[in-house]
Amino acid sequence: MSMLKIGVAGLGTVGMGLLKLAFGQGPLASVVQVVGVSARTLGRVRDVDITHLTWFDDPVELAKSPNIDVFVELIGGADGSAKDAVEAALMAGKHVVTANKALLAAHGAHLATLAAKHGSEIRYEAAVAGGIPVIKALREGLAANYITSVSGVLNGTCNFILTEMDESGRSFAEVLAEAQRLGYAEADPSLDVSGADAGHKLSILSAIAFGGPPDFSSLRLEGIEAIEPIDLESAKFLGRRVKLLAKAARVGSFIVQSVRPTLLGQDHPIARVNGALNAVVIDADPVGRLSLVGAGAGAGPTASAVAGDLIDLSHQDTRPVFSGPGQANSRFLPNQQGSAISKFYVRLRVADRAGTIAKITDTLAKHLVSIESFLQKPPEDAARVPIVLTTQPMAEGDLFKAMAELSRLEIMVEPPILMPLED
Ligand SMILES: NC(=O)c1ccc[n+]([C@@H]2O[C@H](COP(=O)([O-])OP(=O)(O)OC[C@H]3O[C@@H](n4cnc5c(N)ncnc54)[C@H](OP(=O)(O)O)[C@@H]3O)[C@@H](O)[C@H]2O)c1
Repeated sequence: MSMLKIGVAGLGTVGMGLLKLAFGQGPLASVVQVVGVSARTLGRVRDVDITHLTWFDDPVELAKSPNIDVFVELIGGADGSAKDAVEAALMAGKHVVTANKALLAAHGAHLATLAAKHGSEIRYEAAVAGGIPVIKALREGLAANYITSVSGVLNGTCNFILTEMDESGRSFAEVLAEAQRLGYAEADPSLDVSGADAGHKLSILSAIAFGGPPDFSSLRLEGIEAIEPIDLESAKFLGRRVKLLAKAARVGSFIVQSVRPTLLGQDHPIARVNGALNAVVIDADPVGRLSLVGAGAGAGPTASAVAGDLIDLSHQDTRPVFSGPGQANSRFLPNQQGSAISKFYVRLRVADRAGTIAKITDTLAKHLVSIESFLQKPPEDAARVPIVLTTQPMAEGDLFKAMAELSRLEIMVEPPILMPLED
C-alpha cells in the first residue's frame, strides 16, 4: 500500500468532512497526505485548520500540481471550475475522486475517454446516495450478476418533504420552507424538487448496472411540486406510499430510465424509507433482490464514501471508469411520456354538481380505462370535489387520451394528476 499525496478542491460540507478524516486517527490518515487545498475564499473561517497546507486560488493549478497523485474534486456543478480542474487532473495523469453527480451525468462519457487516454482513474462513490456504498456493491459484489433493474429514493430533500407532508398533512410549500430553515433544502431547491438531482444519480447507476456511459438526456423526469396532502392521504387509504422513485430497468433490448412520484405498495422495500434517508433496490440474477438504506448526504456519510475511494486507490485497485456488471454499451431508450405500462393513480378535482360522476365514468369507459378503485372525497368548498381513482394495468398513452378528453369537460376544475403504482 502506498501513501497517496492528495489535493482537495472544495472545502465546504464534504471537503471539511474529508479533512477531518484525513487528519484524524482512522484508516484514511495512514494512507493519504493532504498536500494542497483550494476553495473560493482563502480567508473563510473553517472547522479544520488548513494554514499548514499549500493554498491554490485556482483549482486547475492544484489539479495539475506535480506534487499530487490524486485530485479530489468537492466543488460541485456540471461545468465551470469543477469540470476544468477534473479535466486538467486527468490530462496530467492524476487520478480523480469526486462527489459531483452533475458533472458525471453531463460529461461522464467525455471524462471517461480522457481518463482512459491518460491512464488515470475517476472514483465517484460519493456521487450516488452519499454514504451508501452502492457503486462498490454494483461493480464488485454484483460483478457476476445480470441486472434487471435499479431503483431507489436518491434525493433526501424530496424524501424529507414527502415524509413531512405525509405525517403532518401540510402543503408542499409549507414543508419546503421548513426544510430550507432546517438546512435540508437549498435556497434554490429546483435541482432537488424537479427530480434532476435524482436523475443525475440514476444515470450514473444505470451506466454501471447496464453498461456506460451515463445518458441523462434519455431519462424521463417529474418532480414532486404537484403533490398535495390529498395524494399522500389517498395513497395511505390504498395501502401505499408516495415516493419520488428513480428507476432504470430493462425493457426488451433497451434500458428505460425515469424519476417520477410513484405509489409504492406497502411491502415494497422503499415504501417505509422515510425522512432524509436514501435507498437503492437492485434486482439481479442470480442474487435476487437487494436493498441498501442509509444516509444519502451530510459531511460524515459523504466523506466516508470519498475516503473509501481514496483507500481503494492506495491499494492500486484500478478499473475502467464506468465498468460494472453491464456487458456492453447499453441502448438507453428516450423515455417519452406515455410509454409506461402500469396501474395508475389519478387525482381529479371536479365541480360539485349532479351528473359529474357519470360524465367521468362515461369518458373513462369510452377510452377502455378499467377502474380498480374509485373514491369521491368530501367537497373542499362549494365548488370543488376531489376524486381519486386507480386503474387496472394499462398503457399510459391510452390514459393520457382519456385525461385529455376529461380535461375538456366543463366539470373539471384543474388538470388531472397521474402517478404510476408499483409493488
Ligand atoms: N453536501 C452533501 O451532503 C453532499 C452529498 C453528496 C454529494 N455532494 C456533492 O459534493 C460536492 C460538494 O458539495 P458540498 O455540499 O460540500 O458543497 P459546499 O458546501 O457548497 O462547498 C463547495 C466548496 O467549493 C468551493 N468552491 C466554490 N467555487 C469554487 C471555485 N471556483 N474554485 C475553488 N473552490 C470553489 C467553496 O469555497 P468557499 O468555501 O470558499 O466558498 C466551498 O468550499 C458537490 O458536487 C455535491 O453535489 C454533496
